[in-house]
Amino acid sequence: MSNLFPTYARWELEPENAEGSYLFDKNGKRYLDFTSGIGVCNLGHRPAAVQKSINEQLNKFWHVSNLFMQEQQEAAAKYLSEAAGMDLVFFANSGAEANEAAIKLARKAAGRQKIITFQQSFHGRTFATMAATGQDKIKKGYGSMLETFKYVPFNDINALKDEIDTETAAVMLEIVQGEGGIHIGNQEFLTETEQLCKEYGALLIVDEIQTGIGRTGKAFGFQHFNLAPDIVTSAKGLGSGLPIGAVIGKNALEDVFGPGSHGSTFGGNPISIAAAIATMNTIFDEEFLKSVQEKSSYLAEKLAESLEQIAAVKEIRYLGLMVGIEIDIPLSSLLKELRANGLLALPAGENVLRLLPPLTAAKSEIDEAVQILQATLKEFSKSAV
Ligand SMILES: Cc1ncc(COP(=O)(O)O)c(C=O)c1O
Repeated sequence: MSNLFPTYARWELEPENAEGSYLFDKNGKRYLDFTSGIGVCNLGHRPAAVQKSINEQLNKFWHVSNLFMQEQQEAAAKYLSEAAGMDLVFFANSGAEANEAAIKLARKAAGRQKIITFQQSFHGRTFATMAATGQDKIKKGYGSMLETFKYVPFNDINALKDEIDTETAAVMLEIVQGEGGIHIGNQEFLTETEQLCKEYGALLIVDEIQTGIGRTGKAFGFQHFNLAPDIVTSAKGLGSGLPIGAVIGKNALEDVFGPGSHGSTFGGNPISIAAAIATMNTIFDEEFLKSVQEKSSYLAEKLAESLEQIAAVKEIRYLGLMVGIEIDIPLSSLLKELRANGLLALPAGENVLRLLPPLTAAKSEIDEAVQILQATLKEFSKSAV
């Protein structure tokens, strides 16, 4: 019997070790990991530069508290804010914590309470971020939610126009809805959303927890759409597997998060910061980001080519290396079969197979994944050719 609360429907395999794009289970079986720990291990497993940076910090100090000035925290904040074209950073420990802080920051800054989010969105599991999430299944059984969140359909500007008003503190969105099924924001909708926020004096919060840190081929997803959000949140890929989250904001918000207004014992932990600096060092490089865009086109082409004739595949959607394959066959048994065939992939929404390969995946590894996917889907799909 397990002494863990059964909050996770666990897979049948147990990892023994992992390196680069591969994970090995207790039986020595090798898997191509196109989950990247759910969008976390963007540089693959145990990238050498990150390991080195962590090791160096392990020999200095592990934790001292946020009562102290910490040079590396400052360096990480500078790196992160510059990459976002913004100014100030608050470090948290996770995505939900970063979003929680962003919600507090926006409400206090605006002096208003209402926040508009989108159907099928996912923002986390704390009380405020659960309330922000536009999916009923996440909230089931937990009683009344924070009532100041309003939900409108994603990519529907008229619905947003109907909901936004002078009581609105913020509009909060994902550039690509990840957990909700890989739904990509369209340019017109995003531009108009930003304009509406300006018009009504509301802040634009972009949740880049899954889309950020190079995942879409830019440092942040909003940079594909020429947006200038007031607040951006980051986590997942930022620490390459060490827990860290961040709220990035503009200078104008400085006084809102003054001394004593918000905090966290572990936020900006030195080991996580060391991991984040080495991660950003690698990913926020023009050449690296260009290589992600090239891999994205390569993967998309291969998928289109190989899955074209498989009737169960309804649509392929992607931005960078964030890929959703909409299917009309049972998703969890397909994912299990893929694992048996050596490929780790994820679900998203009800019927979307999600691929989040490491940004460092070699073309040969992309070929291998597509091959396994094609063969497995063919087995599954009766109308496959
Ligand atoms: C867009 C988005 N926001 C927030 C979260 C929550 O992050 P965490 O699980 O680190 O709390 C996630 C996690 O999947 C996410 O994808």
